[in-house]
Amino acid sequence: MLEDKINRIYSEFEKDIDGVNDLKKLEEIRIKYLSRSGLVNGLFSELKSVPKENIPFVGKQLNSLRQNVTDRFNSIKSEIESQKTSTDKDFDLTLPGSEIRLGSKHVLTQTLDQIKSIFKGLGFSVFEGPELESDYNNFEALNFPADHPARDMQDTFFINPKFLLRTHTSPVQIRVMQAYQPPVRAIMPGRVYRNEAVSSRSYCMFHQVEGLFVDTDVTFAELKGTLVAFAHQFYGEELKYRFRPSFFPFTEPSAEMDITCFLCKGKGCKLCKQSGWLEILGCGMVDPNVFQHVGYDSEKYTGYAFGMGIERIGLLKYGIDDIRIYFENDLRFLKQF
Ligand code: DAH
Repeated sequence: MLEDKINRIYSEFEKDIDGVNDLKKLEEIRIKYLSRSGLVNGLFSELKSVPKENIPFVGKQLNSLRQNVTDRFNSIKSEIESQKTSTDKDFDLTLPGSEIRLGSKHVLTQTLDQIKSIFKGLGFSVFEGPELESDYNNFEALNFPADHPARDMQDTFFINPKFLLRTHTSPVQIRVMQAYQPPVRAIMPGRVYRNEAVSSRSYCMFHQVEGLFVDTDVTFAELKGTLVAFAHQFYGEELKYRFRPSFFPFTEPSAEMDITCFLCKGKGCKLCKQSGWLEILGCGMVDPNVFQHVGYDSEKYTGYAFGMGIERIGLLKYGIDDIRIYFENDLRFLKQF
């Protein structure tokens, strides 16, 4: 019976089209079922043999067979075509690439890189020491005896009575001198800690660069020459500077170096406390007591040392007015450098 054939052909068609996902196969199926001499049209020509009274009913069935096969065919075809265009997209070389966001160096690292490169150019090597330091290296060997009031200059995070978080990078001088005989010429950058109230001007953690040069006949004039050469390269040739006498237990004589206030250009303002000058570093000739602690002959050798805060240098160079902003990871700040 024709009705049975209709059902058989539809289920055969379903089996044939199931899982097909290439257009060539699909075209074979179209020819088999939907072409002029295909199976579906073939059934139409068999209508003649159907008894007259059944023709409307069977005709309807045939029409809906053709409709179903065509619909199913079209939907599979558009599915295959859309897959094809989406894989083609992966290879569309004209599409813009997806943006890769690159990080950049933190402004402190950039500043330190610049300082290092200037001092390397002046013949200094670079050493680093640990942040957890002995009381001996941080204070005693630097001529701060126990209970000496100069220890009050640096509020300290003690780990136990013998160990602490270093309050400055000067203990690395001790380590370098213990490890090497003169001549030594080195800078020593690193992170330091102070138990201070956090404010726009001070933080419990910051960075310093220490400098040391020991040899025979090293003079204060060389110290000045080196620091002035550094400051000119770092801040610009037109920079004005001065050295002021100061005190540090590990240097004698000691000095601080000031540069013209960048804000008021020396006229006097709030930043420079009306003086027209900003301090950028401490320095001096290494105290003979320090040489004794590391076993250097203080009759034979002289040396100079200096130390500067990296945050402070950036504050002066870029006009940053709050030290805390360095550590807040605020992209609006970081992206400016
Ligand atoms: N260590 C000192 C400080 O943290 C800075 C300093 C001053 C370092 C004079 C030196 C120096 O090497 O000679 O305040």
